[in-house]
Amino acid sequence: MSALFRDLQIYLETEAEVVDFGRALAGHLPLGTTLYLYGELGAGKTTLTRGIAWGLGHTGAVKSPTYTLVEPYGDLQKPLYHFDLYRLGDPEELEYMGIRDYFGGQSLVVVEWPERGGEFLPRADMEIRLAVKGQGRHVWVNAYSDIGVECLTAIRSVLGKSFESSVESGDAHN
Ligand SMILES: Nc1ncnc2c1ncn2[C@@H]1O[C@H](COP(=O)(O)OP(=O)(O)O)[C@@H](O)[C@H]1O
Ligand SMILES: [Mg+2]
Repeated sequence: MSALFRDLQIYLETEAEVVDFGRALAGHLPLGTTLYLYGELGAGKTTLTRGIAWGLGHTGAVKSPTYTLVEPYGDLQKPLYHFDLYRLGDPEELEYMGIRDYFGGQSLVVVEWPERGGEFLPRADMEIRLAVKGQGRHVWVNAYSDIGVECLTAIRSVLGKSFESSVESGDAHN
């Protein structure tokens, strides 16, 4: 059994590198994956999501759906729902919009500001934290499910950059 990875840290120097990281992720996210993005305004969450959408075949703009809360991209190899909960007033609103129907099904879900969703959001398969550091972005990735660990392990091997990651051998478990 080859090594599996649950976390990874990487420094991405430019916006283009953040987009490329998103593209790399897109290639390894199975249907049903839930990905949460953390970081202050301007940290690069939407930039990373743009890379994911482009990696899935989207060609147009990708903006934070700040006022609509969710933007569907249905015309892709894998349908993507991009949430931005920054302006969510009450987490209970998520219940009214049928939030659970979006998760764990035949689509990918990316959520900016998941901390605003409180208990109404399910656990993520993977969480990514971004922070401004100099000109670039420091990025921490954590995987919390078999899907997340498989994805992280796969993208780790395609990244042509130096990074830190902790190794674990044997089967992934929750
Ligand atoms: N290395 C970098 N990675 C990502 N974004 C960068 C970088 N350097 C500068 N930027 C700029 O930072 C901003 C990031 O914005 P955005 O992705 O919308 O952040 P968030 O969604 O986290 O609020 C963009 O204006 C982008 O042009
Ligand atoms: Mg954003």
